[in-house]
Amino acid sequence: MIRVLVTGAAGQVGQDLLDVLAGGTPLGGDPSFQPDGLPIGSDEFAVMGLTHHDLDITDPDAVNRTVAMARPDVIIHLAAYTAVDKAESDEETCIAVNALGTGALSDAAHAVGAHFIAVSTDYVYDGTKQEPYVETDATNPLGVYGRSKLAGEELCRPEDTIVRTSWVMGVRGRNVLHVIGDRVEKGEPVRFVTDQIGTPTFAADLARALIALVRRRPGGVWHLANCGTTSWYEVARSAAELFGAPADFVTPILTSELTPAPAATRPAHSSLSTAKWEAAGFTPMPDWHDGLARFVRDRSLRP
Ligand SMILES: NC(=O)c1ccc[n+]([C@@H]2O[C@H](COP(=O)([O-])OP(=O)(O)OC[C@H]3O[C@@H](n4cnc5c(N)ncnc54)[C@H](OP(=O)(O)O)[C@@H]3O)[C@@H](O)[C@H]2O)c1
Repeated sequence: MIRVLVTGAAGQVGQDLLDVLAGGTPLGGDPSFQPDGLPIGSDEFAVMGLTHHDLDITDPDAVNRTVAMARPDVIIHLAAYTAVDKAESDEETCIAVNALGTGALSDAAHAVGAHFIAVSTDYVYDGTKQEPYVETDATNPLGVYGRSKLAGEELCRPEDTIVRTSWVMGVRGRNVLHVIGDRVEKGEPVRFVTDQIGTPTFAADLARALIALVRRRPGGVWHLANCGTTSWYEVARSAAELFGAPADFVTPILTSELTPAPAATRPAHSSLSTAKWEAAGFTPMPDWHDGLARFVRDRSLRP
């Protein structure tokens, strides 16, 4: 059995990853998506999933103790300070979690000979490129969250695997699709921006892709997101339609029209190319429309 330690186990990716590591299919998932062509057995992994309550990653002694006791083969590091706007006025905490916490986990992984996989973000880019980013493109984060995640990447070692993902949505997570679903149920129309372009990523699909990286342990930076580039407006419009809303339910607006203006500046165009993933022989990630349809199908089943 491969011993896997997961941080951020109660987060939206963490919950789905724990299901997948146990050989199951999370809500919104597709068991036929096999990134490396292999099924996932229920006895392939021995898993230790750690929530914030179990381990505060800003405590390096606790990190070292926990990793030394668990002696994992692989650590998948998902724990993060993900409140992008709040981070602008809470930089110290954000850096402590996303940068220093990641560095401490990388060090602890190496002390026990474990492979370290850290999940990072499209917000390391400034969004000025007009086509999808590739892993070798220059980084230039626009806000505290992006800077903290990039600093975390930089505290990792070359042999670690860094996964940059974007616009993550899980059926059991807190995300914009639940806001849209709730608003459709209440008949309250919504407004979404047309000028933020990116790549939605469904947590259940990301979780399956991470399994392939646990097996292969490639090292280096990898983009992992569902296929397709779109705007938040288009995601919201498609979701509202699937939730049964009328055609004019979502109003297109510009970021400059958001009230109140968000504290953090987000990249205008941060879609992620997964060409490296495909060139390495992995199955292409499912199209985001497919992930969205599964999300809507399973939303009412969430606990
Ligand atoms: N969500 C996105 O759109 C998105 C986009 C790109 C990249 N990512 C990255 O993908 C990864 C997974 O994201 P996610 O959406 O699953 O995030 P999430 O749902 O916000 O989960 C993050 C988890 O980290 C925990 N955490 C926070 N501070 C911690 C600390 N000091 N010690 C231990 N645990 C702590 C949180 O626990 P509490 O809630 O109890 O504090 C939460 O359970 C993260 O690395 C994130 O940066 C996310």
